[in-house]
Amino acid sequence: MGRLIAISNRTAADPKARAGGLAVAVWESLKETGGSWFGWSGNLVDDVPRGANVFRDEGVEFVLTDLTHEEHENYYLNYANRVIWPVFHYRLDLAHFNGEAFKTYSDVNQRIAGIVANRLQRDDTVWVHDYHFLLMGDALRHAGWEGPTGFFLHIPFPPPEMFRAIPEHHWIARAMCAYDVIGFQSSHDRANFVRYLVDQFDGEELGEDLIRVFGSTTRVAAYPIGIDPDGFRDAAQTAKADRAAERISRFLGDRHLVIGVDRMDYSKGLPQRFEAVGQLFDAHPEMDGKVSVTQIAPPSRSKVEEYQELRTQLDQLAGRINGDHGDLDWIPLRYLARSYSREELAGLFRIARVGLVTPLRDGMNLVAKEFIMAQPEEDPGVLVLSEFAGAAEQLRDALIVNPHDKFKVADAIYQALTMPLEERQARWRKLKAVVEEQDIGWWRNRFLKDLTPAD
Ligand code: G6P
Repeated sequence: MGRLIAISNRTAADPKARAGGLAVAVWESLKETGGSWFGWSGNLVDDVPRGANVFRDEGVEFVLTDLTHEEHENYYLNYANRVIWPVFHYRLDLAHFNGEAFKTYSDVNQRIAGIVANRLQRDDTVWVHDYHFLLMGDALRHAGWEGPTGFFLHIPFPPPEMFRAIPEHHWIARAMCAYDVIGFQSSHDRANFVRYLVDQFDGEELGEDLIRVFGSTTRVAAYPIGIDPDGFRDAAQTAKADRAAERISRFLGDRHLVIGVDRMDYSKGLPQRFEAVGQLFDAHPEMDGKVSVTQIAPPSRSKVEEYQELRTQLDQLAGRINGDHGDLDWIPLRYLARSYSREELAGLFRIARVGLVTPLRDGMNLVAKEFIMAQPEEDPGVLVLSEFAGAAEQLRDALIVNPHDKFKVADAIYQALTMPLEERQARWRKLKAVVEEQDIGWWRNRFLKDLTPAD
């Protein structure tokens, strides 16, 4: 294979961003193939930029463009994050449809496609990431690019009944089919997209993940994303991890730690999780003073109204639960609206008895996989995992819950807290085997093999 060209809204140009998720996955792939990474610089300007900012780091070329204030408002905030994000997370009620924003979204996809197309070479392979660039494949074709072009959606794909609510759904679907390969996180997301193409446009399934629609053939498959398991296990053993574990231990005393780490987003089910914690203490007074729940929730997209409302809701709920259940020497639920480094989180996971990953809807959720890799073999913690996270398709030995059912989530936390060591070890070994086998390299290789089969 020649150079790999990645395109995503956020890149790992800032080394601190190379800590997790999309950024690590793409960064590792590019370092190996010596490729280029196109995306947003993070800067906002008044006029549409003429050129792009180009620099190299560890053999990877970054080509970044600024966004205008108007582009940021309409492409990023209004269309990507107030139309696509809510609908793709099954939250039609939170969507603010906006035709003008779609126009800007489409323009930004085309503008960046122009920058990419100018720099592409014959043997390149293009890999586009996530919901900001659903139209990028089509825009690249219009700019004259004919080489292999794949797309991976890091978030869920909704059932057709919801996708069709987006006024521009047919444009989006048609443009998506300009990609040679479309990758989803789970077979469930893939099935939703395929059902949409079959029902709406008479798409024909040809077998081996191929679909014939709009006069051409596209491969549509599930490629669940993984992590760098050894890297995360090592992160849990660093001095920074030790220090974070020590600091929280001082506060914990001999209480068990139950931990959650999520970007502050309505898809993560944090209010429901807090309610379940309240229910745990209602149902099991014997747990009073024995358990400390810590939720780390770095604020996110705080210019979007729904995120501001979530913040207020969480502040109130945490206050109420602590008011109801806390005592002179005990805070049942701590909620920290700030971020910690990868090493610090690994250190906290390492000493936690329970990891709570209970999104209402999530593409994959890599925290679930990281929690598993940070656990010590001699005394592993238990993962409580939402059935609506993509990770639930792979991590069958977690305690799988419906995050909307606070009684069942409370039961699962209780079960996790009281689970005998042998069962914790047996479950953890099976989970660890899956995370190690289906890791980040496995994900990348499966996708790239389908995108460039001749190599
Ligand atoms: C999710 C998306 C990513 C996005 C990240 C942070 O994980 O799949 O594409 O970068 O959230 O969101 P932000 O809006 O801050 O980029």
